[in-house]
Amino acid sequence: MRLRENYGGVPRGLPLGYEVRTGVELWSTWEDMVVTIAGPRTGKTTSYSIPHIMAAPGPVIATSNKRDIVDATRGPRSERGRVDIYDPQQVYGVAPEFSWPPLSYVTDEVTAKKMAAHFAAGSRELGAHTDAFFDPAGQDLLTGFMLAASMANYDIIQVPTWLAQPGNQEPVEILRHYKFDVLADILLSHVTGPSDQRGGIYGTAQTMTTCLSTRTILPWIVCSDDRPVFDPDLFVRSGGTLYSISREGQGSTGPLVTALTVAVVEAAERYANQCVGGRLPTPLVGALDELANICRWGDLPDQYSHFGSKGIILNAILQNWAQGELVWGEKGMWKLWAAANIAIYGGGVKERAFTENMAAAIGEYERLDVSDSRSESGRSVSRSHHMRSIMPASDLESLPRGRSVIFASGARPCLVKTRPWMNEPYAPDIRASIDTYGPKAVKRKVHQ
Ligand SMILES: Nc1ncnc2c1ncn2[C@@H]1O[C@H](COP(=O)(O)OP(=O)(O)OP(=O)(O)O)[C@@H](O)[C@H]1O
Ligand SMILES: [Mg+2]
Repeated sequence: MRLRENYGGVPRGLPLGYEVRTGVELWSTWEDMVVTIAGPRTGKTTSYSIPHIMAAPGPVIATSNKRDIVDATRGPRSERGRVDIYDPQQVYGVAPEFSWPPLSYVTDEVTAKKMAAHFAAGSRELGAHTDAFFDPAGQDLLTGFMLAASMANYDIIQVPTWLAQPGNQEPVEILRHYKFDVLADILLSHVTGPSDQRGGIYGTAQTMTTCLSTRTILPWIVCSDDRPVFDPDLFVRSGGTLYSISREGQGSTGPLVTALTVAVVEAAERYANQCVGGRLPTPLVGALDELANICRWGDLPDQYSHFGSKGIILNAILQNWAQGELVWGEKGMWKLWAAANIAIYGGGVKERAFTENMAAAIGEYERLDVSDSRSESGRSVSRSHHMRSIMPASDLESLPRGRSVIFASGARPCLVKTRPWMNEPYAPDIRASIDTYGPKAVKRKVHQ
């Protein structure tokens, strides 16, 4: 793994662990993109997300479906800059201190289409059947409604309102007024289509926007005078931290988490393009935990490889290979895995095809078997050579906690001892943060 001296004021990238064979510390560079696949409770947060956040020299974005990552790093990160917690589903339970209107991202057909795609992907159960007609048509309807709402300066909650009024042509007229004629024609065909078909399309789009119908999310997505609006362009120029949290499953606010994450990363790209060498002056670190559950970013595999050269360093964390295939398809998942300069396998996965692929990538060694036999005619020694897997699939499936296998481009795969935060010099800071912000601290405050 190469070192790029002193980028962003720090000589090294993200900590990856100690190579078991040599004890050498391994670090990524500030150009490497990371993908981590590890089963539940294997130490993804303890050994990767938290240490990566602690190593970040500049802005950090973190996604999660749990509060642990926020509790552990909120204290140390507050000392480095502003901390924002986006928690529309109240997983963490903080009051909204800012709002982010998702339509601030939507300025044209392309951004409207992306926003609709986040809602489509994030609202269905992983692997749920999609209808070849109604799904794309529902997504078209959402695209048109989102762009029309944005152009007319409505909040995003205007979209469910229009969805409850089949036949209302206001969004079509808005699109015509702003000269989005093609989109207006497509929208008109859905808005005025035969009622059976229209009912199916509106129903599909309503399912995609289920999370917008919960009243408690309004302060997070609607601007008000008493809360600042989150600005992704300012954020990427700061040393701040953005935690985005959502539950998975029915009513998940995953689409909002995805939309905000994408808005920040795209703002980082725009900023990088204005900077010397097309790179951020200080890298942005993204600890994207539970990606397949709460941040289903459809374009990610296509974009992943070029983020590294811009100083946008993401770790896409999945619990297994199948999750990735359900979000991006088989080809997309392979693309993501291949685009990452560093792929980490942290154990706890029992998908034979995946573990056999890794075993093949780790390779074989030649074993010499010597057999010694005696007979009446004397002693005979025979030697035979056999190729054996260095780390067979069964060993990968039973990898103990505290070990990972790292596949880095340009280097042989290696077994590493992970670096859980408890063993690091900054452990007291994490403990203090958990004491201050963790659930026990919250309970203490309630009883006082
Ligand atoms: N290397 C380690 N040494 C000792 N304890 C560890 C180690 N790694 C993880 N743990 C402990 O194991 C538990 C699970 O760790 P962690 O929450 O990091 O796993 P995870 O993969 O993020 O889990 P989840 O899938 O639930 O998000 C925690 O209690 C953590 O303290
Ligand atoms: Mg975790």
